[in-house]
Amino acid sequence: MQPVELTSPLLRLDQPRPDDAQQVFEYCQDPVFEGYLAALPWPYRLEDATAFITGFVPAGWAGDTEYTWAVRAAGSPALLGVIGLGVPGAAATGSIGFWLGAPHRGRGLMAEAQRLVLDWAFGTGVCAAVHWECVAGNLASARTARTAGFSFTGQGPSQPAYRDGSHPMSWHGVLRATDDRVPHAGWPAEVVAG
Ligand SMILES: CC(C)(COP(=O)(O)OP(=O)(O)OC[C@H]1O[C@@H](n2cnc3c(N)ncnc32)[C@H](O)[C@@H]1OP(=O)(O)O)[C@@H](O)C(=O)NCCC(=O)NCCS
Repeated sequence: MQPVELTSPLLRLDQPRPDDAQQVFEYCQDPVFEGYLAALPWPYRLEDATAFITGFVPAGWAGDTEYTWAVRAAGSPALLGVIGLGVPGAAATGSIGFWLGAPHRGRGLMAEAQRLVLDWAFGTGVCAAVHWECVAGNLASARTARTAGFSFTGQGPSQPAYRDGSHPMSWHGVLRATDDRVPHAGWPAEVVAG
């Protein structure tokens, strides 16, 4: 499908542009990305950012396999982060992934970006459920998923292989189109503790 723009009073989710590559490259030097973002090449180079923006993102939309957005504040062109929903083979259960540049964390922006993507996915019927996972202990990711209404489904190896071929121990969750978008019981105590 053609890329879709999603907006709220706080955020605009649109397509990453070639002139975002330098910013993506700079954010992706963050050492936490090496451990938490399986798909990211490491070390991350400017060419990786350019290939992501000009290759991976448009191919995902055109092939209906991965819908990716740049996260921007409403009314500002600056890229703050990225969010994507994978639906390989038109799977009934999609898979969500996201990151923010370090200066933009801690303001609830990703919870809002998730809400926009989930509303779109369920509203259009792109998928009937969404799977979330993070490396066990990634509290910031888990807290946004809990806030978005995901139910914790347990700890186990990551679904995708990491860049070294391993499947690190991960926390998993699911949100169905019919679920309430409120925090549910069952999350690890350290996630709930805040
Ligand atoms: C995960 C991420 C996108 C969250 O985005 P965010 O907009 O900063 O999230 P929020 O501001 O809503 O913070 C989420 C919660 O985690 C908490 N939190 C944030 N950073 C934390 C940290 N390093 N350790 C523990 N808790 C943390 C916040 O206090 C907040 O708690 P609350 O929901 O009880 O208020 C962002 O931290 C990030 O980009 N991390 C690195 C990449 C990554 O891990 N991506 C996810 C891979 S699965």
